Amino acid sequence: RTIFVLNGPNLNLLGKRQPEIYGHATLADVEAECRRVGEGFGLEVRLMQSNWEGQIVDWIHEAREHAAGIILNPAALTHTSVAVLDALNTFEGPVLEVHISNVHRRESFRHHSYVSLRADGVIAGLGVEGYALAMRRMGTLVGS
Ligand code: DQA
Repeated sequence: RTIFVLNGPNLNLLGKRQPEIYGHATLADVEAECRRVGEGFGLEVRLMQSNWEGQIVDWIHEAREHAAGIILNPAALTHTSVAVLDALNTFEGPVLEVHISNVHRRESFRHHSYVSLRADGVIAGLGVEGYALAMRRMGTLVGS
């Protein structure tokens, strides 16, 4: 079974972008760690990133056929995108929302998440380790 790990705008720059907030690890590091955790549960990982809202929506549609669960860091789309929420509402498996930073300690516009209306769980403020922890939870929910 496969888990989609989807990442929204600007996360391609993870490691370079505001490292005081998001740390120095890259998305490639995140992918390696998710694969390592997934292996223990017999889960494959497909990690993807896009700066385009519609691409995230398309990948969520693809997940309907090809993924047992979705781990999603929607980045800025968290706070703006009804389209991403609507797409997630077409997906039947578990959805875990991850934020690297503690969004609740930041600007008030980051305190609201459309995606949380669908997410089965939310991790925020645990750094990139949040992805690995979400993978462990996926293992419990859908792993072998
Ligand atoms: C983020 C938090 C969002 O508010 C922000 O727009 C991001 C990253 C996080 O991982 O902490 O791009 O989702």
